[in-house]
Amino acid sequence: MLQAAAKTLSAASTTSVFSRRVSLCIRHYCKKTPTKLRVSEALSGAELGANVKVQGWVRSVRPQKSNLFFHVNDGSSLQSLQIVAGSELSDPLLTFGSAVEVTGVLKKSPHQKQPVELEADQIHVVGECNPVDFPFKIKERHGLEYIRQFPHLRCRTNAFSSLLRIRSEATTAIHSYFKENGFVQVHTPIITSNDCEGAGELFQVEPSGPEFDEDENFFSVPAFLTVSGQLHLEVMSGAFSKVYTFGPTFRAENSQSRRHLAEFYMVEAEVSFTQSLEDLTKVMEDMFRSATEHVLAHCTEEVDLFHKHVTPGHRDTIDAMVKKKFPVITYSEAINILNRSPQKFVFPTDWGCDLQTEHEKYLVKHCGNIPVFVTDYPYDLKPFYARDNQDRPQHTAAAVDLLVPGVGELCGGSLREERLDLLRARLEEVGLEDTYSWYLDLRRFGSVPHGGFGLGFERYLQCILGVDNIKDVIPFPRFSHSCIL
Ligand code: 4AD
Ligand code: MG
Repeated sequence: MLQAAAKTLSAASTTSVFSRRVSLCIRHYCKKTPTKLRVSEALSGAELGANVKVQGWVRSVRPQKSNLFFHVNDGSSLQSLQIVAGSELSDPLLTFGSAVEVTGVLKKSPHQKQPVELEADQIHVVGECNPVDFPFKIKERHGLEYIRQFPHLRCRTNAFSSLLRIRSEATTAIHSYFKENGFVQVHTPIITSNDCEGAGELFQVEPSGPEFDEDENFFSVPAFLTVSGQLHLEVMSGAFSKVYTFGPTFRAENSQSRRHLAEFYMVEAEVSFTQSLEDLTKVMEDMFRSATEHVLAHCTEEVDLFHKHVTPGHRDTIDAMVKKKFPVITYSEAINILNRSPQKFVFPTDWGCDLQTEHEKYLVKHCGNIPVFVTDYPYDLKPFYARDNQDRPQHTAAAVDLLVPGVGELCGGSLREERLDLLRARLEEVGLEDTYSWYLDLRRFGSVPHGGFGLGFERYLQCILGVDNIKDVIPFPRFSHSCIL
C-alpha cells in the first residue's frame, strides 16, 4: 500500500523536490520495516523474498557448527516455521519453549519437509523458558493424560493446540449450518430459575460478600446456572419458527466419568410447525454431517494427528459416519436387541429401564458402528415437556436420542407437549403448575407443534476425534472434586 502511495505521489508531481523526498522516505521505510506474518501465512509461501517478522514459541532447536536451526510455532497452524540463522545470532536463552521474535527474509527451503524457511537477520528472545523445569520435553510425544496435569500449559503442545483449532473450526461450522438453514441465534440466559430437565442437578447462584443477607435470595426466587436453554428457546420458537443457542451449560452431577463435565457447551435447536420426530432427526443428522465435513476439510492436518497418534483407526469410523445414513430404531426395538444379545449387561434391560452407556455402546455396534437414533422412550422416563404419544399399553413419549460410536448419547431431544390440557395435567401431577404458568401461556397463545434437541459439543468432539476422555476436548475442564483455575 505504501509503495502504491509513493508511486501515486511521485507520478502526480515528478518535478517537485518535496514529493521525491517523500517517495524516497516511503521506499526506505518499505525496505526497512518487515511485514509481520503469522506462521501459517509464512508457510503459504505468498511472501517469498519479503522481509518479514514472525513471533511465536520455539518448538525445536538444532545448533550446528556454522548455522543455527530452530522451529517457531504461533498457534496459527500445526506446522512450525523453520528458521535458519548464522551461529553468530545464537543465544543461550533461545531454548525449547521460549518466546521469540525473528526478522529476516523468507526463502524457498532446499529441504522437502517444508516449503519455505526464514533466513534470520535478527533474533530477539522475548520470554525465556527453562527447559529443565518446563513440563514438556523437546521431541517427546506426551500423552493426553500427561498433559492434562498442566491445564495452564497444555495449549503449547501439538496435540492440544490442534484440538483447540478443531474446536474453534467446529464452532464456526455449527453456526454456519444454522445460518444457512434459516435459524435465528438466541442468547439464552445463563442464570435462570428453572430446572428444565427436572433432574435436580443444579448449581445455585447467590451473591457473596458481607453486604448480602445469606437468608435472602438475590433475585426474588432461588436462581441457578442453566442446565438447558430449551425452555427459553421454546419461547423464541413461538416467534421466529427456527432458533438455536450454543453456550455454556452446567450440571452438578457428582460424576467422575469420561463423558460428563460440570460445565460443558450445548448446541440446542428448536423448530416450530413440526409434523413428526423426523423433522428433528433430519436437523441433527444434517448438522452432524455438515460440521464434520467442514472440520475434515479445514483442519486436515490436525484431524490426521489425532487419527494417527491418539486414536489410530478412527479415520475409518468417521468416514463411515459421514457417508452412511443414520438408522432409526424405537426404544422398544432397542430393548429387544439388548435382550437378544449374547453380551451380559450390568444394568437391567427390561422395558421401562433407562438406557445405560453399556447399552448405548452395544446398540451402536449392533447398528454397524455408526450413529443411531433411538425414538419413543417410555413416557415416565422423560421430563414434563415431552409430547405424549398416547399409546397403550406401552406408554411412550415422542423423544429421541442420538447414540454415537465410542461415546453413547450425543443428542437428546423431543417433540414438546403443545396441547394445553395435557401439559397442564402433567405439570399438576408433578406439582409444577404455578412455577411454569408462563410456560403454559405459550400453549394458550398461538401454540404450535414444535420440538428440539440438545447436542453435547464436547461429546461431539470426542466422537469425531475418537478421544476417550471428555476432559481432553475442552480448554479448562470443570468436574466434581477437581481443582479449578
Ligand atoms: O439429554 P439432555 O439432558 O437434553 C436436554 O438438556 C434437553 N433439554 C435439550 C433440548 O432438547 N434442547 O442433554 C443434551 C446433551 C446430551 O445428549 C449430552 O450429549 C450432553 O447434552 N450432556 C453433557 N455433556 C457433558 N457433560 C454433561 N454433564 C452432560 N449432560 C448432558
Ligand atoms: Mg439425555
